[in-house]
Amino acid sequence: MEFFEWLDSYSIHNPNIDAEHQIFIKLINRLISANNDGLDDYYKERLSLEIQKYAEFHFVSEENFMIDIDYPLLEEHQQQHTLILEKFNVEMNYIELGQKSYAEFITFLVDWLTEHTLTQDKKIGDFVKESSDPNGSR
Ligand SMILES: [Fe+2]
Repeated sequence: MEFFEWLDSYSIHNPNIDAEHQIFIKLINRLISANNDGLDDYYKERLSLEIQKYAEFHFVSEENFMIDIDYPLLEEHQQQHTLILEKFNVEMNYIELGQKSYAEFITFLVDWLTEHTLTQDKKIGDFVKESSDPNGSR
């Protein structure tokens, strides 16, 4: 499987959140690498747990940033985070029961990360940019 790459277009114009997104991508790439190298399930399970815990931390961090900047779509975004964590749990259960492969789990991770970062998180970036642009509407 291909590694997931950070693109500058993912930036939400906050260095801490951008750094967290980059760490997130690194963690997913470690799991991809472990899967590509055929490492054992226990190790992949530990890496998945690390990603899950990091996602929990990162979402709180991102939500606090949204609170700091009075982001108008905070509630909607929080609901998305809750939904993602719920889906994460469901997918982890499939893995533990042997009903899904790590390749499928990784596809789920990359898909939601890309989708969420490109749509929901991008909106935070647009808001930050607009707010700091002296010629903008705010
Ligand atoms: Fe988010």
